[in-house]
Amino acid sequence: MNNNCQKNIFWQKYSITRTKREQKNGHKSIVLWFTGLSGSGKSTIANFLEEILFKNGISTYLLDGDNIRSGLCSDLGFNIIDREENIRRIGEVVKLFLDSGMIILVSVISPYRSQREMICKMLGKENILEIFIDTPLSICEMRDPKKLYKKARLGKISNFTGIQSIYEIPEKPDIILDGTDFLEKNSEKLISMLYDYNIISFIDQNVK
Ligand code: ADX
Repeated sequence: MNNNCQKNIFWQKYSITRTKREQKNGHKSIVLWFTGLSGSGKSTIANFLEEILFKNGISTYLLDGDNIRSGLCSDLGFNIIDREENIRRIGEVVKLFLDSGMIILVSVISPYRSQREMICKMLGKENILEIFIDTPLSICEMRDPKKLYKKARLGKISNFTGIQSIYEIPEKPDIILDGTDFLEKNSEKLISMLYDYNIISFIDQNVK
């Protein structure tokens, strides 16, 4: 980025702070960063959890890789540089959402450790919980909900994660979920984690 762009820019302080918003919401703000292979179940688990949180009156928002790539990041591809820019932009959006006092669920492959470290630095480690959806490549490929693994094997897509492009397993995620487990079991684990970190108080997982 050209540093000149930053010249003559002054940070505007808001009267309504994150703390005030958190007080109003009745819970803390945090980022739940779901990382894992395509087809690992990241979005399904994040969506399932968001529904439970939402029904309990918690302010949430889900940012999904495919959706972000349909708009904000539609100019980016899947080489290392573009993926890094994808994650950086998502990080900047997430910073704003954090300030809004919400629980933000982010579902993106984010295959490189350096990217995930960049996000932790950007947001501050205390603001993010890294959730690794651990599903073997063979199962993701068998599920192949978007038929992208098939295309990648046929050479119709390049740089596909897990096939021509690597996924670096998180070294110290805050939690590892087995992507083949029941959604209920995985969401229970995530809700317990939110309790443990004092992000939320009691919620009813069976609320309709
Ligand atoms: S990331 O690597 O930059 O974090 P992101 O989560 O935003 O990826 O986008 C991944 C989604 O893009 C996948 O779920 C899939 O639907 C689609 N996709 C298209 N091409 C590729 C590719 N080469 N590698 C991985 N995902 C791809």
